[in-house]
Amino acid sequence: MVSRVIPVDPFDLVIFGGTGDLARRKILPGLFRRFCAGQMPNGSRVIGAARGEMDSAAYRAFVAEAIAEFGGGRACEDGTLDGFLERMEFVTIDARGENGWSDLVALMRDDVVRAFYFSVGPSLFGDLAERLTKHGLTDADSRIVVEKPFGRDLETAKALNRDLAKHFDERQIYRIDHYLGKETVQNLMAVRFGNMLFEPLWNSQYVDHIQITVAETVGVGGRGEYYDKSGAMRDMVQNHLMQLLCLIAMEPPSKFDPDAVRDEKLKVIRALDPMVPHHIVRGQYEPGADAPGYREAVGDPRSRTESYIAMKVGISNWRWAGTPFYLRTGKRLKARSSEIVVVFKELNHSIFGEAGEHRNELSIRLQPNEGITLGVTIKEPGPGGMRLMNVPLDMSFAEALGPDGADQTDAYERLIMDVIRGNQTLFMRGDEVEAAWAWTDPIIQGWEARGDVPKTYDAGSEGPVDAVQLLARDTRVWRKVAP
Ligand code: BG6
Repeated sequence: MVSRVIPVDPFDLVIFGGTGDLARRKILPGLFRRFCAGQMPNGSRVIGAARGEMDSAAYRAFVAEAIAEFGGGRACEDGTLDGFLERMEFVTIDARGENGWSDLVALMRDDVVRAFYFSVGPSLFGDLAERLTKHGLTDADSRIVVEKPFGRDLETAKALNRDLAKHFDERQIYRIDHYLGKETVQNLMAVRFGNMLFEPLWNSQYVDHIQITVAETVGVGGRGEYYDKSGAMRDMVQNHLMQLLCLIAMEPPSKFDPDAVRDEKLKVIRALDPMVPHHIVRGQYEPGADAPGYREAVGDPRSRTESYIAMKVGISNWRWAGTPFYLRTGKRLKARSSEIVVVFKELNHSIFGEAGEHRNELSIRLQPNEGITLGVTIKEPGPGGMRLMNVPLDMSFAEALGPDGADQTDAYERLIMDVIRGNQTLFMRGDEVEAAWAWTDPIIQGWEARGDVPKTYDAGSEGPVDAVQLLARDTRVWRKVAP
């Protein structure tokens, strides 16, 4: 199966933070892959902008290195790299001063889409927005892309929204949550709203509970300083897991249109129950055989920041009241595995006398081995009476769809192209981010006020034992964390 490449209009994409880690690992290699796929039309350019002194030739060498290291995946034809590098420019610029802005003005063109990627810390968002407008670099069709973390609480998120709103319309602001760009995350919507099969059962009458797991094997690595001020709640739950929860729980939007989808997601966030402390388990990983423990990794032997969190979340609306959503995410766990499991209720009467032993589970695997599995009950083969067994109806996207079924297009590639196309469906709206912080803030404030200390867990395990008990109290069990 060949994926369709829909070309976008010619563009000038300015990457502030153009020599930073995100640009190197994700944005530049992602753009190169889109170029190889033929999606970057003639006349499009990428302009790196950063404080350091560098000329365009040196930037091209930097980009070539980034692609060699992180380009990965698909082969490009010989010579393609040179064609891509020709489209790279660089300006030295000071986000908080005047240096370099006239160079950028001289470079930009009027007859192409203008997009500005703020791949910098949020403290610079306001300065950049102000200077872009002050120097006449934007028009009503220009877009800006901003990265997470979008604030660290409701107040800071509101301040960021206000700063950006002074210069840009909401329809020009693209807040990235890269989970929304993942192939299988979008498939959640296709599965729910493109099939008759599931939606009638998608409610508390038929669904016992839902589990959302995003498990990572990596630790905090070199990001200790950032991470220790965030923790799993701010780093993963407030954004990525919240988005997954919204896509699973939202009402069908009337159409697949940015505001229709985002309106429905917002309603889910606003219907979340306030959390109670005994529905949350926080954890910190211990040292492993060949890797430091969390506290050592962040350089603070008394750190109380969580590298793991599990929670039982309720949604007070007509569809979901009474069906718990169990969320968990953590670093240095047994396997890299992100999965959503919808566990349907037991039969209310079994004609086979085996009630309580067989039930349907729909598992949507986000990464790795993207695919969908539906557990169904069948008769155990062979003579000897009617014995039942559970078997998986298993669809691996890679097997069902061929090479294009595997998650080849990185989330960033897809999202950047959506920015150029002007499609905001997979980006967070300002009110959505604020609502997510409004729910998250009291939880974090509660831990801080009580001085809660996270439980420890072994590196390479499935998390703290208390997380097992969180479900055991409800006579439920987590799915195994397995790739
Ligand atoms: C980032 C978090 O947003 O997502 C990281 O800051 C995390 O801590 C990463 O590791 C996970 O993304 P992915 O795409 O590897 O699942």
